[in-house]
Amino acid sequence: MKGLLFFLALAAVFASGYAGEYTAAVVEFQPAKSATPSQTIEDNVHEYTVFIENAKREAAQIIVFPEYGLTGMVQDQPERYAVEIPDVGSGPTYSDLNLQRLANAAREHGMYVVVNILEKANDTANKTIYYNTNFVLNNHGKILAKYRKINLFLEPLLTPGAQDQKNTFQTDFNEKFGMFICFDILFYYPSRSTIASGEIKNVIFTTAWFSTVAILQPLNVQHGYAVANRVNLLASNMNNVTAGNGGSGIYGSNGAVLSYYISGLGSSRLLISKVGSNVQQSFRTQGLKGFNTFNGKTELDSYITQERFDSNRFTIRKIELSTGVETVEKVCQKKFCCEFNINAVVPTIEEVYQYGLSKNGALDRTYVVSSQNS
Ligand SMILES: *[C@@H]1O[C@H](CO)[C@@H](O)[C@H](O)[C@H]1NC(C)=O
Ligand SMILES: *[C@@H]1O[C@H](CO)[C@@H](O)[C@H](O)[C@H]1NC(C)=O
Ligand SMILES: *[C@@H]1O[C@H](CO)[C@@H](O)[C@H](O)[C@H]1NC(C)=O
Repeated sequence: MKGLLFFLALAAVFASGYAGEYTAAVVEFQPAKSATPSQTIEDNVHEYTVFIENAKREAAQIIVFPEYGLTGMVQDQPERYAVEIPDVGSGPTYSDLNLQRLANAAREHGMYVVVNILEKANDTANKTIYYNTNFVLNNHGKILAKYRKINLFLEPLLTPGAQDQKNTFQTDFNEKFGMFICFDILFYYPSRSTIASGEIKNVIFTTAWFSTVAILQPLNVQHGYAVANRVNLLASNMNNVTAGNGGSGIYGSNGAVLSYYISGLGSSRLLISKVGSNVQQSFRTQGLKGFNTFNGKTELDSYITQERFDSNRFTIRKIELSTGVETVEKVCQKKFCCEFNINAVVPTIEEVYQYGLSKNGALDRTYVVSSQNS
């Protein structure tokens, strides 16, 4: 009897790992575009199940797929792509074949699976409406949670989710998660309200974010959120380099960048890391590289940012950083001045944070200081 108890205790430790630690996977995903909407979703669901299988080999307990990952950017055609998502508590048997395939993969591999899709629903007058929705399958294939995006971005045919909807869930590996979608990260509801009680230490962020100079680059928004709020962030971005979409990562509540990926070359990528307050910076260098070439271009040459800000509203100064620098720059708008203390070191790895694009379109290894003129 004693022997059995000992064995059970050991098995329990083995199964749960160290307290407060778990293994997370996020997928940077480049959606396939097939002949019909249903074929597109089916083909991408198939890819998802392969990622789930691969994540299981590295012991992932939860996996996150990106916003618009199953369809690509089809927010202008919800009537062709949207599907009904059963209520929380449903499953593990579904009439929708694609949902069934995902649920089977979740159950077979004992993994929590977070998927985003356009959801079709009825309003109170039985009129069809559409949401941008994350749903979570638990490790038994049941629908554990749903979240409908509140802050829509260029999605005029969709209905915003309710501000007071429940967007959190509990896992059997003793971690609670909150979740939201893309543009949501810039608004109190839900990006701060979700974590306001202090109970939620893990946030899932599905996105189809495009890189926008100067300050809305995907990785710094993601890392900034984790650092500012002291939460673990699992950020999964859709990849479409021709539109500048991409950049995913896993970030620790202690400020660590546990894994990240950003590239100018279009591809999907599985990121996996242990997550927990004692897990330290362990990232593999997967960032933009100046020397990797593909079809004769470097990753950096292929990397696109969208310049959606009006540079005339900014004061921009170039600072030559090739030799390292320590300087103070003062930027004034009438009587209002900002002083920037700049202290730079030349990076020793062949990886850079961001290249600027000069007016003639040439890549320009300088950094910019800017202040908004308002
Ligand atoms: C990728 O972006 C291009 C350019 O915006 C667009 O034409 C294409 O449909 C996008 N692909 C997907 C899968 O969203
Ligand atoms: C919406 O209403 C239609 C017709 O009443 C029904 O067939 C469909 O299942 C409903 N959808 C949802 C998501 O409740
Ligand atoms: C909506 O559709 C359902 C099922 O078709 C029906 O039972 C219900 O009465 C309808 N509600 C309204 C407000 O029309």
